[in-house]
Amino acid sequence: MNEEEFIKGILDKGMRLTPEASKLILEVKDKEKILDNLIREGFTIITKEDLESIIAEYEKIPEPEVEIKRKNSFEPIAKDYAFNIRVYPDKDITNNSRCTGKPEDFVMYFRSRLLMTKSVLSERIGETPIIRINELKTRNNSDVRLIGMVIDKRDSQKGNLIVEIEDEQEVCLVIMMKSDENVYALADQIVLDDILLFEGRVYNGILIAKEIIWPDIPIMRNKKTIEEDLAVAYLSDLHVGSKLFMEKEFNKFLDWINGNGEDKELAGKIKYISISGDIVDGIGIYPRQEDELVVKDIYKQYGIFMDLMEKIPDYIKVIVSPGNHDAVRRAQPQPQLPKELLNGKTLNVGSPSWIDLEGFKHLIYHGDSLDSIISSLSNCDHTHPEVPMIELLKRRNLSPIYGRNPIVPEKKDYLFIDQIPDVLHMGHVHKNGYSLYRGTHIINSGTFQERTNFQIKQGHIPTPGIVPILCMKTGEVVHKKFVAGVNYG
Ligand SMILES: [Fe+2]
Ligand SMILES: [Fe+2]
Repeated sequence: MNEEEFIKGILDKGMRLTPEASKLILEVKDKEKILDNLIREGFTIITKEDLESIIAEYEKIPEPEVEIKRKNSFEPIAKDYAFNIRVYPDKDITNNSRCTGKPEDFVMYFRSRLLMTKSVLSERIGETPIIRINELKTRNNSDVRLIGMVIDKRDSQKGNLIVEIEDEQEVCLVIMMKSDENVYALADQIVLDDILLFEGRVYNGILIAKEIIWPDIPIMRNKKTIEEDLAVAYLSDLHVGSKLFMEKEFNKFLDWINGNGEDKELAGKIKYISISGDIVDGIGIYPRQEDELVVKDIYKQYGIFMDLMEKIPDYIKVIVSPGNHDAVRRAQPQPQLPKELLNGKTLNVGSPSWIDLEGFKHLIYHGDSLDSIISSLSNCDHTHPEVPMIELLKRRNLSPIYGRNPIVPEKKDYLFIDQIPDVLHMGHVHKNGYSLYRGTHIINSGTFQERTNFQIKQGHIPTPGIVPILCMKTGEVVHKKFVAGVNYG
């Protein structure tokens, strides 16, 4: 309402303004409201003072509160996509265990492992022929290549390194001379039960090695990417039921994926969560474990886990693989957790298991064998789990050293890595570690358990509450921290 309209409104109601009041009206901002008040008060002559009191009264009236409802700005892109998952039931021990514990089972298991690894090594191009061990005697003074499993490794009196290898029929000795620095350095990386290709010259039925080849994965591979802007989050070693399970921090993670927190865009990309074992702390896993438990019933431990999973939106698929603390057989390969313990919400798979998520081939394995590979190789320790994980890939076997962690001799070696994964996801050592090795993402997803007494005694320093995330559009791995002030270093 402008000034003229205001004056007209006054006159129309039979009211008159004094000259001072007329000047004051120029300063009034909301003339319409003032006019309403003047009409309501029933003035005939409006003085400057009348107008001032009306204005003062009007200013006392609080502005009507505009309810500011914060629109939930979380619009997860992952919600717009259907799941794109492929599982490989024949590569998972679940429902496939045929082991009867007979001696023949061990023979079949080792034969399977030898033949599968041999087929990978045999593809290596070389000028010299690959022969069987029983042909050595006929090849004196010639160059050959041999494939065999290492059954012994020792130093000779002269300081050379001797390994004894075995193929399907025969055993022989291979010597790495100390004077040959290259091969001698490589020999440091040999662990028991390694299946290797040796190249060298034959002398009296013994091979003097010049080269050692591990089966490994191909060099020329680019990391995979996809068009869809989706992501996978990786978890392991929650140890639900333990006094040291970091429930508060885990709930922060759950809040975050529900869009409550910073970096909503990243949270909204998460379409899958892979959990690689030690879901719960279990019961009777080690002596006096009950002292470390807050929940002493295995069903209740999984019940708490399932309650936590209920907080995950339905457009996210959670894949659960067991570990050595979980309620399935301890020996590997481990079958999936039974439906009585985990039902409905999660996709349960064995350890190891293979699963494609949006075409990203995942190899998921808890990592029991990491302890033995770390203690056997000089370049490995518990601070960088990605290094021993790469060593497993080089050997194309998730548990190359037999007997250090229990293995069931199935008719084929489920721990053999027969395909090339885009992602190798493990846990067990409670330490985050990432690498990109020949196009394969190496991811150890750490833990949500505080430092245990065992880890204090061993000098291991965990990295709890850090979640790695693979952004599949860019092929980048990032991580989010859900813990503050924890530093065991
Ligand atoms: Fe664990
Ligand atoms: Fe574990």
